[in-house]
Amino acid sequence: MKPSIFVTRRIPQAGLDLLEQHFEVTLNEEDRVLERSEILDGIRDKDALLCLLTDTIDAEVVHANPKLRVISNYAVGYNNIDVAAATSRKLPVCNTPGVLTETTADLTWALLFSTARRVVESDNFLRAGKFHGWGPMLLLGVDIFEKTLGIVGLGRIGSAVARRAAGFRMKILYTAQKNNLELEQECHAERVELNELLTQSDFVSLHVPLTEKTQHMIGTDQLQMMKNSAILINTARGPIVDEQALVQALRSKEIAGAGLDVFENEPALAPGLAELENTVLLPHLGSATIETRSKMATLAAQNAIAVFQGERPEAIVNPEVL
Ligand code: GLV
Ligand code: GLV
Repeated sequence: MKPSIFVTRRIPQAGLDLLEQHFEVTLNEEDRVLERSEILDGIRDKDALLCLLTDTIDAEVVHANPKLRVISNYAVGYNNIDVAAATSRKLPVCNTPGVLTETTADLTWALLFSTARRVVESDNFLRAGKFHGWGPMLLLGVDIFEKTLGIVGLGRIGSAVARRAAGFRMKILYTAQKNNLELEQECHAERVELNELLTQSDFVSLHVPLTEKTQHMIGTDQLQMMKNSAILINTARGPIVDEQALVQALRSKEIAGAGLDVFENEPALAPGLAELENTVLLPHLGSATIETRSKMATLAAQNAIAVFQGERPEAIVNPEVL
């Protein structure tokens, strides 16, 4: 008999097809985030769970079904899962790193460009019938080339963002736990303390995971340190930024703009954020391409399958349980 798996929402077919070969699949067919009670119902008697970053898998859910043998998250970030609780019961937690790195770096640049050059605001302006011909002072943005890009957290995605900056001859500053010598050579990147990065960068892009340490890492004080002309980009996780403080900083022109793909209380936005013209706001699309979502689905499926084949999953967050 095949083991059983609960999939909390439809993912690309490649992943579902793969799962079908190895599991009895129960899929939530409704295209919405499940309530916690529905997740608890869904995993009852199941051997495996494939969940999304919008599913809160806290200690209670982790412990709800002693039969559960793997939690496979369809995301690279896993702050939605109580990993310590899973580890305490020797339950592997898997994620989807690597496959979405370049795609998320692309979107980071899309946000950087569109914020710096006011692309969305200008498009709205034109569609509203306000374009009456070229103007010497019309919708001026700021340059990107040869500016300083600050990368907070030089992991896979941060590095991919940095590599793209070479084409714009940008100076790169980064924070990380240790130096990345390869990238320093390749991109002339320089590792600095966060405060120095904030004071010197024209663009600050966040690429740290969300943890207790990184929550509200960018608040009032940090925003004040940034240049008045600086632009903040966040494609990591919303709670890394104190969103209220950011609204305040944008309003008072403490910083010039923000391009955000993630929000502190997603899908809600901090009051006032959506009214600000110097922001570009996207509905969490970092990895949202046809190709990459299919790869994520395949990897999430492979991770779950590996556990039942007694193999080491390609991407496991808590390998100590193996
Ligand atoms: C997306 O935010 C992810 O963590 O995969
Ligand atoms: C996430 O995959 C990162 O390391 O940036």
